[in-house]
Amino acid sequence: MNWITALALLFSVTLLEARLLGIPTSNFASSDGELRLSTLDCIVVDAKYAETVDERGQTLIPPTLKEFAETFAGDLKLLGGTGSVRVGDRPSAGSIFLTVGERSTYIDVAERQASEGYFLNVSSDGITITGASPLGAWWGTRTILQQAALSNGSIPYGVGTDSPWWATRGMMLDAGRHYYPPEFLVEMCAYMSFFKQNTFHVHLSDNLYNNVDIYSRERSLDLYARFRLWSDSEDVAGLNKYKNESYTREQFNHVQSACSARGVTILPEIEAPGHSLVFVQWKPELGLSDDLSLLNVSHPETIPTMKKVWSTFLPWFHSKTVHIGADEYTAEVNDYNVFVNSMADHIWTVSNKSTRIWGTFPPNYTQPGYTNIYKNVSVQHWEFFEDMPLQDYIMNNYSVLNSDDTFYVVNKWSGSYPQVVNISRTFTGNPATDNGSWYPYVFDTHNMTNNPIRSEPLILGEIAPLWNDYGANATVYLEAYYAWQEGIPALADKQWGGDLLANEFDRTLQTLLPAIPGQNLQRQIPSQGSTILEYSLEDAHHLATNRSNIVADLSGNGYDASTTCKKTNNALVINPSCSLKTPLTSKGRNFTLTTSFLLKTLSDRTNATLISGSDSSLMLTPNITFFSSGEYFRLNTSLPMGQKVNLTIIGRGNRTFALLDRNAEEEFLTKVGINGARFVWAPMGIEAPLEEVGGLGCGWNGEFYGMKLTGEA
Ligand SMILES: *[C@@H]1O[C@H](CO)[C@@H](O)[C@H](O)[C@H]1NC(C)=O
Ligand SMILES: *[C@@H]1O[C@H](CO)[C@@H](O)[C@H](O)[C@H]1NC(C)=O
Ligand SMILES: *[C@@H]1O[C@H](CO)[C@@H](O)[C@H](O)[C@H]1NC(C)=O
Ligand SMILES: *[C@@H]1O[C@H](CO)[C@@H](O)[C@H](O)[C@H]1NC(C)=O
Ligand SMILES: *[C@@H]1O[C@H](CO)[C@@H](O)[C@H](O)[C@H]1NC(C)=O
Ligand SMILES: *[C@@H]1O[C@H](CO)[C@@H](O)[C@H](O)[C@H]1NC(C)=O
Ligand SMILES: *[C@@H]1O[C@H](CO)[C@@H](O)[C@H](O)[C@H]1NC(C)=O
Ligand SMILES: *[C@@H]1O[C@H](CO)[C@@H](O)[C@H](O)[C@H]1NC(C)=O
Ligand SMILES: *[C@@H]1O[C@H](CO)[C@@H](O)[C@H](O)[C@H]1NC(C)=O
Ligand SMILES: *[C@@H]1O[C@H](CO)[C@@H](O)[C@H](O)[C@H]1NC(C)=O
Ligand SMILES: *[C@@H]1O[C@H](CO)[C@@H](O)[C@H](O)[C@H]1NC(C)=O
Ligand SMILES: *[C@@H]1O[C@H](CO)[C@@H](O)[C@H](O)[C@H]1NC(C)=O
Repeated sequence: MNWITALALLFSVTLLEARLLGIPTSNFASSDGELRLSTLDCIVVDAKYAETVDERGQTLIPPTLKEFAETFAGDLKLLGGTGSVRVGDRPSAGSIFLTVGERSTYIDVAERQASEGYFLNVSSDGITITGASPLGAWWGTRTILQQAALSNGSIPYGVGTDSPWWATRGMMLDAGRHYYPPEFLVEMCAYMSFFKQNTFHVHLSDNLYNNVDIYSRERSLDLYARFRLWSDSEDVAGLNKYKNESYTREQFNHVQSACSARGVTILPEIEAPGHSLVFVQWKPELGLSDDLSLLNVSHPETIPTMKKVWSTFLPWFHSKTVHIGADEYTAEVNDYNVFVNSMADHIWTVSNKSTRIWGTFPPNYTQPGYTNIYKNVSVQHWEFFEDMPLQDYIMNNYSVLNSDDTFYVVNKWSGSYPQVVNISRTFTGNPATDNGSWYPYVFDTHNMTNNPIRSEPLILGEIAPLWNDYGANATVYLEAYYAWQEGIPALADKQWGGDLLANEFDRTLQTLLPAIPGQNLQRQIPSQGSTILEYSLEDAHHLATNRSNIVADLSGNGYDASTTCKKTNNALVINPSCSLKTPLTSKGRNFTLTTSFLLKTLSDRTNATLISGSDSSLMLTPNITFFSSGEYFRLNTSLPMGQKVNLTIIGRGNRTFALLDRNAEEEFLTKVGINGARFVWAPMGIEAPLEEVGGLGCGWNGEFYGMKLTGEA
């Protein structure tokens, strides 16, 4: 063809590839005009499909179309919509009609039918979303919410068919070496769901150091190792010793259903036969004598023990696939293969679930006496020094999930990996397109020979992990969110098959962040002005109310506190049997929280709580201390007794400071251990506690004069 034809073709292709800017971008041909979301008055769920569920996805507890509609209605309510849902036969004027219908155009990158596609039609009559399944319709509702946020409440007229190129799109959280509360997982699912990710892989067991062979047997048996599920079954009695940092069946169910309600499947992982110190601490005879973090697969009790563990917990799990770990086992290959196949057999026999493993030993052993892992075990590749995804797996007919360490995050500090997702690689990590967009078929960002073709059907998708190599005291819970705040949307675009450009990313994300329903991971507090909250017992205004149990908020936001403590004319008299309670719980970065106290007595000088909140407590131990995420972070300063002091806490970006009167700011730091050999000091980003001053067990007597919170630092 000549260059004019080529140009014309290029031009028409550009026109055909009309898209909506969102994260991910969606295929959509806009026409003139737009629909204001506020003019729509209800959601109508097609009566024919109201009870339909998506059976092709990974979850075993899929919501019905009507249930998705109800969650969507709640999201719209937040945007000022009416939020009413009814079941009906057809759309009404000004409705959002949700229905299900097969279309040959819902296809994935390998041109197979995609169950998560949707067709969106926006006109002056209203909106129709036709999902390939209820889940597909749900992703269509995310497009509506995003467009409304990006265009000041309006959606352009037009039509579009959009479906994900890959079926597995999501993140993996290391909850083995750091506990995360159930609600944190639920909020993360809401965040992921907004960007159309559908899988949250939760790593539920691990130990702090994988090279425990450097420790003595005694020391190894004492290292940090955790199993996060709590069961009262005799079969696992003694395995988990930390109930307050575990998930009960009820909690795990709650997480799975709350995530599923937003289209996200929890994919649980229990790791063995490597990273298995927690099992060896439980049954020391099962460890390999030269490295107790590895199970001795040839010990006659090892496989039966792990089968019992799986039998106990399989009934808890509502996903079609479970993950048995099988990462970084450095002992016998054949033992490894026998272990993987025994577990896969057992899991299938007991629960009809499929098994997934981390790529560790390539299945290329052909010598007599070797058994390779079954072809129906899917493999999560993470590093080329372990295996070659194309040559070792795809060419041998194994399904592969891309978790290449291109997008690894190690929380807070690492000698080898970044602390936030390297998002620029999502825009430039493709060697086949001259540093064009990365997609899940790109395992090797440098050498295209190691990547399959884009439409390779054995690629499941991508999951990007966050590891807590330095354990629980390196971070507070929400620091995991900040490590992923940009990474989730940047990866989600490409996991879906979107074509968001680097120069569109930041402004699009900044506009979307405040509009993400189902979560408040930034712990934001609505406020009219820059002062969010202000109590002053010294200000005569607080006496204006004749209700003695109220302390008025002077900020204008109406966040009045209630108290059971005695008021004097300039202070609140605090003791361990009374408190001041605010209607707020926690404030995320940035913040300045100024407080004013006088301490008279401490009942336990190492355990007094000045202010507590849902994410942290400000304590005296006797040094000024934050207790957050189960860990203590101490300064070198304490508070003087018997004199009035002003204590200011500042959350400035990912760092936290305290300021006592007019002294210099002092920073809250953590000491991150590097393989037990050396340490680095690293900053902490801790949320401000806002819930209660004093209270039961606070451990101090004294006076409280007031506090003020702003969103600046
Ligand atoms: C979109 O909806 C409008 C209004 O209901 C309808 O007239 C139009 O035919 C629909 N377009 C498509 C492509 O389905
Ligand atoms: C956004 O929409 C509102 C009406 O809902 C309108 O008053 C306002 O001017 C619009 N802002 C912009 C920037 O278009
Ligand atoms: C593994 O267990 C077998 C059987 O109990 C035992 O003979 C062997 O010494 C153990 N190996 C190691 C390295 O601990
Ligand atoms: C199997 O593959 C790995 C890496 O891909 C390679 O290092 C190893 O030599 C191969 N082993 C055999 C027996 O082919
Ligand atoms: C903390 O923020 C600074 C400045 O934005 C950044 O350079 C640094 O990488 C961040 N640290 C972590 C652990 O996220
Ligand atoms: C790219 O990968 C191929 C196949 O693994 C290998 O033979 C080749 O040496 C690699 N090229 C470079 C530049 O590393
Ligand atoms: C769980 O209990 C232990 C022991 O009492 C304590 O050290 C830890 O801080 C608690 N964890 C949380 C998250 O509160
Ligand atoms: C408390 O502060 C003192 C200095 O005032 C310091 O020597 C001590 O190490 C601090 N304690 C802790 C546990 O950080
Ligand atoms: C918080 O403060 C830091 C440092 O002043 C600034 O870089 C950052 O943009 C602020 N973040 C927010 C969310 O305001
Ligand atoms: C504490 O703050 C108040 C009000 O901002 C101020 O008047 C007072 O001087 C401060 N006290 C000290 C000891 O810094
Ligand atoms: C954090 O835990 C490590 C052990 O993993 C310990 O060496 C270090 O001192 C702890 N840091 C703090 C601030 O307590
Ligand atoms: C501190 O005091 C509180 C309230 O009395 C108590 O629940 C907690 O266990 C104490 N913590 C320590 C470390 O003693």
